Amino acid sequence: MQLLRILQSQGFGARRACRELILAGHVQVNGRVVEDPEAECDTAALTLTLDGQDWRYREKVYLALHKPAGFECSRQAQHHPSVFGLLPAPLLERGVQPVGRLDQDSTGLLLLSDDGAFIHRYTSPKKEIGKTYRVVCKHPVSETQIAALLDGVLLRDEPAPIAARACARVSENVIDLGIAEGKYHQVKRMLAAAGNRVESLCRTRVGGYSLPSDLGAGQWRYLEDADLARLAESA
Ligand code: URA
Repeated sequence: MQLLRILQSQGFGARRACRELILAGHVQVNGRVVEDPEAECDTAALTLTLDGQDWRYREKVYLALHKPAGFECSRQAQHHPSVFGLLPAPLLERGVQPVGRLDQDSTGLLLLSDDGAFIHRYTSPKKEIGKTYRVVCKHPVSETQIAALLDGVLLRDEPAPIAARACARVSENVIDLGIAEGKYHQVKRMLAAAGNRVESLCRTRVGGYSLPSDLGAGQWRYLEDADLARLAESA
């Protein structure tokens, strides 16, 4: 593929801006400056370097972000900073989108991608991808409440009760709750329907992929093939 097209595809700007970057000698291909925008490059094992930063060529990007509390998942955030501000410019330019959302006050694993088919697969209600949340509740969680969550609770505007796939006690006020759907405020509404209240919520797993313990709040990383395979396993 032509270097100019590669640069554009990787989110380094419009055609003109990319051409200028190359002509000005700002672009290295596998460690060597290339000043010809039309140079043909093999994308199979390609690393671009711009401003001293390495960027491996990726046809599509898949990201795991540890969302901190106090961030909105929309690009045009209304009342809080946007999670998009936590990502570098080329990823925003590529048009990454969140794969499902977390509330402003929720934390944990947020997937993002620029692969439309992937986003659809992981957000389609039909697919029922498992998600696990560590839920800190206001009140001690009773056995009756756990049983209610597992049996199914009726939420407003839902035709039938919704049951948790799993509900494991962690401590008096804390549970790990597994759900298959991704409805609006689902965990908060389920806990309210069971007679408790969510104090804080952290998504710890999607499919078979867990939030990495070394990924701090506000940090992100690429999902590699092994991570994507884990993601595809049912939780
Ligand atoms: N359920 C909620 O209530 N909020 C979230 O952010 C995610 C799941």
